[in-house]
Amino acid sequence: MVLSQLFGQLALAATALAVPLVGREATTANSAETIAWGPCDFDTVGKGPIECAAFPVPLDYTDAGSTKKLMLSLIKSPAPNPTKSKKSILFNFGGPGYEAVHTLNSLADRLHTGLGNTIRFSCFDNATDRQVATLQFPVLPTTAYETALAQTFAGAEVWSNLCYAKNKDNENAKYLGTAFVARDLMSVVDALGEDGLLRYWGLSYGSTLGATVAAMFPDRMDRIVLDGVVNSHNYYHRLGIDVDQLLSADDAFRSILDQCLAAGPERCALASLKGNTTAAELEATLLATIDRYHKNPVAAGATVVDGNVVGQIMFITIKYTGDVPNAAVHLRNLVNGVNITEAAAYNTALNAGIAQGNDDSFLGIKCSDTFPRADTLEGIMPDVNAMLHSSKLFGAQIASIAAQCASWPWEAKERYEGNFKGIKTKNPLLLFGNTYDPVTPVVNAKNMSAGFEGSVVVEQHGYGHATVSQPSNCTTQIMQSYFTKGTLPKPGTLCEVNTSLF
Ligand SMILES: *[C@@H]1O[C@H](CO)[C@@H](O)[C@H](O)[C@H]1NC(C)=O
Ligand SMILES: *[C@@H]1O[C@H](CO)[C@@H](O)[C@H](O)[C@H]1NC(C)=O
Ligand SMILES: *[C@@H]1O[C@H](CO)[C@@H](O)[C@H](O)[C@H]1NC(C)=O
Ligand SMILES: *[C@@H]1O[C@H](CO)[C@@H](O)[C@H](O)[C@H]1NC(C)=O
Ligand SMILES: *[C@@H]1O[C@H](CO)[C@@H](O)[C@H](O)[C@H]1NC(C)=O
Ligand SMILES: *[C@@H]1O[C@H](CO)[C@@H](O)[C@H](O)[C@H]1NC(C)=O
Repeated sequence: MVLSQLFGQLALAATALAVPLVGREATTANSAETIAWGPCDFDTVGKGPIECAAFPVPLDYTDAGSTKKLMLSLIKSPAPNPTKSKKSILFNFGGPGYEAVHTLNSLADRLHTGLGNTIRFSCFDNATDRQVATLQFPVLPTTAYETALAQTFAGAEVWSNLCYAKNKDNENAKYLGTAFVARDLMSVVDALGEDGLLRYWGLSYGSTLGATVAAMFPDRMDRIVLDGVVNSHNYYHRLGIDVDQLLSADDAFRSILDQCLAAGPERCALASLKGNTTAAELEATLLATIDRYHKNPVAAGATVVDGNVVGQIMFITIKYTGDVPNAAVHLRNLVNGVNITEAAAYNTALNAGIAQGNDDSFLGIKCSDTFPRADTLEGIMPDVNAMLHSSKLFGAQIASIAAQCASWPWEAKERYEGNFKGIKTKNPLLLFGNTYDPVTPVVNAKNMSAGFEGSVVVEQHGYGHATVSQPSNCTTQIMQSYFTKGTLPKPGTLCEVNTSLF
């Protein structure tokens, strides 16, 4: 989905502004009262009218005496009718560390490219070195082999040490963190010179940023949408991960198998397996297939296809709604043991560049934000076990990420220390959760809503990550009324989607 389409979804006579997450780099630029918009330094052809700006904000908000600045990269899609438009909406699309929405990836790349030569936080001199470290110290599925988790834990400590060695003289490392980004948002609001209030739509990690800014500046909230909601209690207090992220994943996969069988073999290849007439039978077949490749990995092109590859393609079905028919072909072929090389290439292509960005700022932000650390493997087991228990089908694939922040060397200079409870915002928040979201279950939206007085949760009855993954006229209409008039839907509103998977 391109920028203009996404912004078009709002169909508002308002300026849409995207605020990226960036590494914080000192600059000598003077603070500007206003934002100087101009052409972008990347190709915007076909992306609608887009303008860019580099805007200086304080590097260290906790040091009032410091004049050091950070250049923030902004992108905007001007309102179709500027004479009518008086207000801007700020966006944040989350990040690869939080399973960025696939369709927003090309956009996210733009947002992360950074203008004004912003240097992002990096643990390595170059991409090759990072790639080597990723291969040497991988985040392994807990089921890869008996000591895979222990290996991941030790590797994560090495990674932290390498990162520290590289950045021990980098004073910017301690400025990474969500609380400062929340303050950046308000600096942008100030510079816009509108009404001093924030209008914001945050997806995925962007929901953590949104909840944080709303908790820190409740009196300055106008319209705040949290979409594809992270449980931010967990984010800050459980080793930088939301241990509840997979709570809907198994339901999502089973529902997709039901839809697949209903669609039939012409439209869903998995429906062609003889004797597999129920979702439960298909699930059993796929689990047996994982086990088979686990025990007998196959050399296929440039990769080894093992049980993890089968599991990853299963996960693709719940993550990328537009790709379910393709994934179903590859899963059927893996069951039948044919075209394994194509399946491997497919998996590599869809997961390339998603797990890892071009630098380490997302890791730096989440690990610096989170409070706990763990010296021993036992220390991360509560989080690992919570994830394993939350999803029988997918828990083992990601539970090891609990190791990532265990020995992180930095703590954010400022962290939101509240508990997201009893927060009275100037205007109430609106939250969205998809019934079958792979990584941000609707229970998370309900959990976060409980902390913000008067806020309302809308459930979008569909698949994929955040509401943008499937079109829904109902959702679009609710967003429009909220942003333009402040109207909230009735609590318990369920929105149907206007599309099908097959
Ligand atoms: C990456 O950085 C390392 C360490 O500085 C260096 O030895 C290596 O040549 C670099 N590789 C590339 C491809 O630039
Ligand atoms: C489902 O298909 C697989 C692969 O062809 C087969 O081994 C299995 O027996 C089938 N399941 C049932 C219940 O027939
Ligand atoms: C296997 O791959 C070949 C080459 O891409 C393709 O022509 C063929 O249709 C595939 N077969 C199946 C069963 O997917
Ligand atoms: C929200 O989630 C946190 C973390 O799991 C939990 O401690 C808290 O009780 C939950 N709050 C509500 C209202 O469910
Ligand atoms: C949804 O919105 C589209 C575009 O505005 C419109 O063409 C379509 O009729 C609507 N569909 C339903 C089911 O309301
Ligand atoms: C919604 O569905 C209608 C048909 O029911 C279709 O005409 C329209 O284009 C769809 N809208 C979107 C936004 O997909």
